Amino acid sequence: MMAANGRKIWMDGRMVDFADAHVHVLNHSLHYGVGVFEGIRAYETAEGAAIFRLKEHVTRLVTSARFYHMKIPFSPDEIAKAVVDTQAANDIVPSYIRPLVYRGEPALGVKNLVGKVSLAIAAIPAKKYLGEGSESGVRAKISPFRKPHSDATPSFAKAAGNYINSYLAGADAAKDGYEEAILLDQNGFLAEGTGENIFLVRGGKLYTPGLESDILLGITRDSVIRLALDLGFPVIEKALSVNELLSADEAFFTGTYAEIAPIKDVGHYPIGSNVPGPITRKIMAAFATAIRGEDPRYASWLTPVARLVPTAPRARRTRG
Ligand SMILES: Cc1ncc(COP(=O)(O)O)c(C=O)c1O
Repeated sequence: MMAANGRKIWMDGRMVDFADAHVHVLNHSLHYGVGVFEGIRAYETAEGAAIFRLKEHVTRLVTSARFYHMKIPFSPDEIAKAVVDTQAANDIVPSYIRPLVYRGEPALGVKNLVGKVSLAIAAIPAKKYLGEGSESGVRAKISPFRKPHSDATPSFAKAAGNYINSYLAGADAAKDGYEEAILLDQNGFLAEGTGENIFLVRGGKLYTPGLESDILLGITRDSVIRLALDLGFPVIEKALSVNELLSADEAFFTGTYAEIAPIKDVGHYPIGSNVPGPITRKIMAAFATAIRGEDPRYASWLTPVARLVPTAPRARRTRG
């Protein structure tokens, strides 16, 4: 679980003290799960904190909101600036930044199209989401809960309500002693983890479920595809069976919070040689280099925070 503390929360343009960032209990999103959000990370680089793939996260937030008829009262540029400002105000690295779009009162009545749409942004300390297994290998189980078909709830929207499905799968896996669940789609093919996409390595090639498997279009997934191709590994997006997972040479999860987490076994089945495999390790190393701003090929993935919005403490240090 994540520690939820920071100094300030950005709420509709105001920087509010962490303890005062309240919403009314008759909040439509609280009752029906109609809210959309993002999970973004800021990393330490040689030039200070930098936000990873900010533009893509803002674009996905706006797209998610559109699915749910929510017009965010800020432009994409304003949202991006607000994320940078929130990161600067909290001055925590590595951080996990959580923009949330929600609809206020009236709460009761599902098809609320009129309640005020708000945006809040928090930045809290980032931890290893999948614990020790984040680096040495995660134990996962195939969940009895399947991903809903996108005909029911569109998986491309990162909507709060989608996470009741992730919660059921994650809680079931945790109660059985696993670090993560792997959800199948309605056709029995692999979809994703509760908060991650999944990749398999077979015969030197990477495989990941395609868009038809009701996945979230992960930004880490996209980054890993680019890194893998640049490392010379072919990447194939297609429907993948449990068979292909259990007989894979390697497997790993990707996600903003989980980053790249090797999967060491699924249920009672060891994956490959039960340790992070060589291709997984190469991709983890390339990712680590990219997020630290050490590979110029991926420089555009990082938005420097200090340069855009100098923080007050830095400014004071310069004068003193
Ligand atoms: C259900 C689900 N799939 C995949 C991902 C990975 O997406 P990203 O890499 O953009 O964080 C997440 C995390 O946001 C998620 O919640």
